[in-house]
Amino acid sequence: MPLHQGRVPVEDRGYLFGDGVYEVVRRYAGRFFRLGEHLARLRASAAAIDLAVPWTDADLAAVCETLAGRSGLEDCTVYFQITRGVAPRAHAFPRGVPPSIMAFARAVSAPSAAQRAEGVPVVSVTDDRWGRCHIKSINLLANVLAKEKALEAGGFEGLFVRDGIVTEGTVSNAFGVRGRTVFTHPADHRILHGVTRAAVLEVAAAEGLDVREEPRPLGDFLGADEVFLSGTSVEVLGVSMIDKKPIGAGRTGPVTTALHKAFVRLTRGTA
Ligand SMILES: Cc1ncc(COP(=O)(O)O)c(C=O)c1O
Repeated sequence: MPLHQGRVPVEDRGYLFGDGVYEVVRRYAGRFFRLGEHLARLRASAAAIDLAVPWTDADLAAVCETLAGRSGLEDCTVYFQITRGVAPRAHAFPRGVPPSIMAFARAVSAPSAAQRAEGVPVVSVTDDRWGRCHIKSINLLANVLAKEKALEAGGFEGLFVRDGIVTEGTVSNAFGVRGRTVFTHPADHRILHGVTRAAVLEVAAAEGLDVREEPRPLGDFLGADEVFLSGTSVEVLGVSMIDKKPIGAGRTGPVTTALHKAFVRLTRGTA
């Protein structure tokens, strides 16, 4: 059905409590990128909140294919979320209530060519999220507030900093480059384990870069030769400035450009 005709029951626990998990998968030229990884992460997120998923991977893949097919878009994203179902409002899990699933396809909103070439400004924001950021929960209020704060300060994205350590972006993972070393926060409970992040680590290793997954302070990012973001919509996107201070040459650097090229080859199945 057309998106605007979709309806949510007011007692859906996703609507009342943010009690659910979600995924966003991207289709390039008619082929989903790493759908299996997205489904595995969805299952891990659901398991982490004790939410049973009664659908098989084949069922969920069929939903994605059907929606993408009906959208008529070769390049699109499919958003889907699973919540703990519809029940009278009470915090305790409802018994015997089936989970709800909702999904839609949308055109991709990708960065412009100018943003890719010049890089985007980011603004550091306090990471005051809960302690289970590896769960792709639909409860995104802290991310929403941080993103808005960054936008109001002239940023394209907010860079979360917890106890002086850069964790990730509000909707992306964050990387720094120093010489031939690429660093990013370890995939623990402080960050979302991005599917793009994992792909970037693969292509970085294949390019002969020294890859370090370790906590790094904001100063290491400010003093880096290059900083970039990764995510399903931004892919690999250079950062020009953090808190209005230029990073390296103040525009997308050569390592970021090479990694983006390698990532694009991966998405097209030509790498
Ligand atoms: C907080 C956060 N970190 C990282 C990412 C990037 O994850 P992926 O590469 O799987 O899109 C996202 C994507 O939504 C995100 O919301």
